[in-house]
Amino acid sequence: MTEYFRYHHNQLYAEQTPLSEISEKFGTPCYVYSHAALTHSYRQFEHALREHEHLICFAVKANPNLAILNLFARLGAGFDIVSGGELQRILAAGGEASKVVFSGVGKTAAEMRLAIQAGILCFNVESEAELLRLNEVAGEMNRIAPVSLRVNPDVDAKTHPYISTGLKKNKFGVAYTEALDLYRKTSKLNNLRIVGMDCHIGSQLTELSPFIAATEKMLILADALANHGITLEHIDLGGGLGIRYLDEVPPAISDYVQALLRVLQGRSEKIILEPGRILVGNAGVLLTQVEYIKHGAEKNFAIVDAAMNDLMRPALYDAFHAIQPVTLESGKSVEQYEVVGPVCETGDFIGRARDLAISQGDLLAVMSAGAYGMSMSSNYNTRPRAAEVMVSGKIMQLIRERETVPQLFSGEKIFD
Ligand code: LLP
Repeated sequence: MTEYFRYHHNQLYAEQTPLSEISEKFGTPCYVYSHAALTHSYRQFEHALREHEHLICFAVKANPNLAILNLFARLGAGFDIVSGGELQRILAAGGEASKVVFSGVGKTAAEMRLAIQAGILCFNVESEAELLRLNEVAGEMNRIAPVSLRVNPDVDAKTHPYISTGLKKNKFGVAYTEALDLYRKTSKLNNLRIVGMDCHIGSQLTELSPFIAATEKMLILADALANHGITLEHIDLGGGLGIRYLDEVPPAISDYVQALLRVLQGRSEKIILEPGRILVGNAGVLLTQVEYIKHGAEKNFAIVDAAMNDLMRPALYDAFHAIQPVTLESGKSVEQYEVVGPVCETGDFIGRARDLAISQGDLLAVMSAGAYGMSMSSNYNTRPRAAEVMVSGKIMQLIRERETVPQLFSGEKIFD
């Protein structure tokens, strides 16, 4: 529960809009975002960083809906992208290419061309092979590409292994011990211009110490570069700040930024951050309806109309999302349920062993679903993807139509 999703008179609201009205108007499953929550989280970063030159690059992968990108763009955000597709979304949403950093281990030549053409701020290059390709592509275009090396600082983020990225054994970035050499090589490539250094150690971090350790290592490297005549315009410390799903106590945005600034004291480089989850995670819920209650031999099941294709995190990471009834009713008895979807997989669950007072037809809100919810959704089982709605006060607006089944197979052809 946050101040943006709260009960009034036993009804769960998004800001001043009852979630039941959203379901009546747009159906379920449906993602619902709070405009005020999104704005507030972004502004907290701006405020905390106000005394140091900075750029907050929203990690688009967390939630790439055009309305969300447009909101952040209007607030002044830059963007962290990992594909040409994400760049096109930013341009379509009114974002500025000059505030875009491009991460990812597998950039294609076509994606590089697109990004050079658009005039992005920086390529976060993750290997020597990528560096050589980028130099070649920029050369063919008669352009100079701005680069930063994504350095893998070999710091343990202490998070789920699937979303830990800053260890030696991970595929991300260039090895810390090789970074200096690679920067020197980069400085000799004619179509590249070194502008920064970058790291991202993982996601859903709930402690400050790994961020501090990574930043300290980055600065040691930046100083070593300076000794070799290589100066940086910016240092990008990635994203990764965690949110509360259940009982985690992640650092507040202001404490996180303060901790980074303490390490960066006296530095003149611009700071770039790439937050994703913290900006959107608790600004969204997934609204779903109970289709059936089923009393199995061992367990009770609440079968809902959202499934692993809509919210993959529980199936993929065993992630926890709180589940709240949209209407609190006294008189219903509390029972323990497996909250599951209709998809034909045992892994298709939204929540396990949840104590809920619910019956068939009830609406449920799956909380903290604004990050990596819709963005990781799929059409498995030929399920059209959910609608998305943005709420601001009493206003609700559809920001993505529910997909239709014909759309799903419109590109397919019978073999003849
Ligand atoms: N920058 C880079 C280079 C990244 O790879 C990521 C996330 C971010 C920034 C943003 O990290 P955040 O602030 O959101 O933690 N699907 C997973 C999370 C995968 C994160 C991938 N990289 C999940 O649902 O938990």
